Amino acid sequence: MVGNWKMELSHKAAVECARAIKKMLSSVEVSADVVVCPSYPALPEVAEIFKNSEKVGVGAQHVHWEETGAVTGAVSVLQVSAFAQWCIVGHSEQRELLGMSEEHVRDTARLLLTHGITPIVCIGETFTERQREETVSRVTQQMEVLLAGLTRPGISKLVVAYEPIWAISSQNMGETPEPAAVAEVALLIRKLTATKFGGDAAERLRVIYGGSVKPDNVAAYVSEPGVDGALPGNASTMVSQFVEIVKQVQKAAE
Ligand code: 13P
Repeated sequence: MVGNWKMELSHKAAVECARAIKKMLSSVEVSADVVVCPSYPALPEVAEIFKNSEKVGVGAQHVHWEETGAVTGAVSVLQVSAFAQWCIVGHSEQRELLGMSEEHVRDTARLLLTHGITPIVCIGETFTERQREETVSRVTQQMEVLLAGLTRPGISKLVVAYEPIWAISSQNMGETPEPAAVAEVALLIRKLTATKFGGDAAERLRVIYGGSVKPDNVAAYVSEPGVDGALPGNASTMVSQFVEIVKQVQKAAE
């Protein structure tokens, strides 16, 4: 369960959100990994809030694929590693901003793994690709580049988020995929992983769904076979909705 706060919260609001989540989850049984991803400036304070927390981990929203260098405005894995155990990689919004290629996504995932940070790699098709029925070919191409750059131990730590771009709430299309369609893509992701690394690795890989995840639809997604979790954006910035999503995921797992 990964909450991507994007650029939605002020510094103060992010810290308050983290404190409130901590408080509200204190009485909730949580067996899933729960992660919040604030913007960079809030990372140290949010990490401090969840220090020693058994329930909530902290993630960055992006790091550059190079470890260091003359890249104005970029943030290195070395600069977040003291605060984050997780990191979103290749979110469609970052891909668009930076012209991130599949190779950049792969390199970022690899770099994070060498620093002991779990990459949450976002893949998924655009609206036009969906219209052209290119979901399978797009996801296959993205996974093949990613898998070619990783090792078996890396796969067991990896999280792949299937996030169809057209389903993201900010796209305002008001559409989401059927849970069964998400399960089909999750199966495709695992099959591709199995072809390269074998069935065990494919089973260990975690596949989650992102795109307009809300308290009232999350259970349907995570109840599908092979769908291990969710990546809410907008809903994760509202404490009560995020906590409700965590509860729903927990209930679905029982
Ligand atoms: P929404 O949940 O707001 O659609 O955002 C999804 C997302 O982009 C998470 O990474």
